[in-house]
Amino acid sequence: MKVLLVNGSPHENGCTDAALRVVETALREAGIETQRFWIGTDPIGGCTACGGCSKIRACVRNEIVREFAALADEADGFVFGSPVHYAGISGNLAAFMDCLFFSQSRERFRMKPAACVLSARRAGTTAAYDQMIKYFGISEMPIVSSCYWNMVHGAKAEDVAQDAEGVRCMRVLGKNMAYLLRAFEAGKAAGLELPEVEPVVRTNFIR
Ligand SMILES: Cc1cc2nc3c(=O)[nH]c(=O)nc-3n(C[C@H](O)[C@H](O)[C@H](O)COP(=O)(O)O)c2cc1C
Repeated sequence: MKVLLVNGSPHENGCTDAALRVVETALREAGIETQRFWIGTDPIGGCTACGGCSKIRACVRNEIVREFAALADEADGFVFGSPVHYAGISGNLAAFMDCLFFSQSRERFRMKPAACVLSARRAGTTAAYDQMIKYFGISEMPIVSSCYWNMVHGAKAEDVAQDAEGVRCMRVLGKNMAYLLRAFEAGKAAGLELPEVEPVVRTNFIR
């Protein structure tokens, strides 16, 4: 079983990465394979609603989104991490997630556990947390929680290690995700099927 950990910060080795590494260590200690994925610093164009993704099940405009979608098809769980930028997730990560989740991703993500991790110097973490879990909630992804909302505090990577409560929260998150993945695996081995996919109904409030 494999978990992808996405770093949505412009800093490859900053606070978000430090937090994700704690989650990763807990996952690995529990025998779960992991892979970290950094979205980089090149600007990612937001969704232009071109509809191209409906034909290829992947974003036609952003190569990095296509690259990640291919990895996601094979993954069993996800942790998306972001620095808090103006009380929300980073602009580049928002563009990445819009394009990723809009590109026919239901099969890619359905019933695969997901968690988010936020890093802030001071505030805006819970607003960013709310923003992040919206993607999971619309995609039938079980949302993995911890002993607090998943956040750490710091301005540079070394600060994160001093946030003992935040570090504990990351560790517990990794353990909880590993447990859920094992529980899913045990269910599957016992013959438990995923719920049937219901036919799509779209009600756009036009009367
Ligand atoms: C554009 C920008 C906006 C930011 N907005 C906030 C904010 O709203 N609240 C906050 O506490 N920190 C804010 N910060 C600080 C970062 O969230 C914080 O330093 C974070 O831990 C950095 O994580 P990173 O090293 O992974 O990039 C902001 C930083 C930048 C660059």
